[in-house]
Amino acid sequence: GNRTFTMIKPDAVENGHIGAILEKITAAGFKIVAMKYTQLSLRDAKAFYAVHSERPFFGELVEFMTRGPIVAAILEKDNAVEDFRALIGATNPAEAAEGTIRKLFATSIGENAVHGSDSDENAAIEGSFHFAGREVY
Ligand code: GTP
Ligand code: MG
Repeated sequence: GNRTFTMIKPDAVENGHIGAILEKITAAGFKIVAMKYTQLSLRDAKAFYAVHSERPFFGELVEFMTRGPIVAAILEKDNAVEDFRALIGATNPAEAAEGTIRKLFATSIGENAVHGSDSDENAAIEGSFHFAGREVY
């Protein structure tokens, strides 16, 4: 697949990292084909993270993801899903490789700066959750 979906999460927006993160993303060869500055409603966040609804951190995750604005984007590159997950690094920034976006900009396992889709199928589902067809270049 050649597309993935990302969000710059509320912690990174609050901390002023939108520009630096977009710079890392474009420098790594990803083309932005859709992008918006928005805030998730409680309903949006619960639906987006439904797969995690039985996890102990679900309430914390939904509260975090709705507390302020995010940047949502669809990115295009060969091997997009895998290459983007390599660029962002491990879920827990303490375990993320040097130079990765989470190593540089995340603060904790919960507040970890960025999202990246985990499969081509989920990239398509997540992209259409956030964008209408006419919003995608
Ligand atoms: P995403 O790209 O955001 O999906 O992260 P991921 O694929 O690396 O991790 P996963 O899908 O397993 O978890 C989704 C999100 O839930 C993570 O990015 C964190 O924001 C949050 N999360 C995961 N594990 C924990 C945890 O142990 N505690 C808390 N508070 N949040 C967690
Ligand atoms: Mg995930």
